[in-house]
Amino acid sequence: HGDPRLEGISEAIRVVPHFPIPGIMFQDITTLLLDHKAFKDTVDIFVDRYRDMDISVVAGVEARGFMFGPSIALAIGAKFVPLRKPKKLPGEVISEDYVLEYGIDCLQMHVGAVQPGERAIIIDDLIATGGTLSAAIKLLERGGAEVIECACVVGLPEIKEERRLNGKPLYILVEPR
Ligand code: PRP
Repeated sequence: HGDPRLEGISEAIRVVPHFPIPGIMFQDITTLLLDHKAFKDTVDIFVDRYRDMDISVVAGVEARGFMFGPSIALAIGAKFVPLRKPKKLPGEVISEDYVLEYGIDCLQMHVGAVQPGERAIIIDDLIATGGTLSAAIKLLERGGAEVIECACVVGLPEIKEERRLNGKPLYILVEPR
């Protein structure tokens, strides 16, 4: 990439060993949110990438996709669509189950949140197995949207090199430390 901002972003992420279970090196982006420059650089890099791509939907994955997605959506003139864990959304929903590193979970999206043919990006803090973002892609596509790209702050080197997910482009800023 060669972007000088990436080193500061990487260093602002705290690594917490053995959280939430033994063996997981948790990438804690709350420390990135405390660092104004690193937080702004993160949002700016995504905004610069997506502002001229005719994106009308930014979908964010609960919970940490909610911390980056709305800022990006406002800056590029798109709506924000929350993809939530079960029983949180009050309206009619569609659901996708997925397997996680530590358990099984489900994401839901409100029916009518996107219109057929809308161009969407999906934002999350981190991709590990890709199960969460795969479920998110399916939800957007079932809603009729076209998923242009998935974007994460942190991704494993294997995934970062592959740069694709379910055939969709994947954009990652930094690798875990
Ligand atoms: C984490 C992370 C991603 C997902 C990535 O969220 O924020 O959403 O796991 O893992 P994957 O690529 O293997 O699917 P988590 O499920 O811990 O939920 P939370 O943000 O609500 O705590």
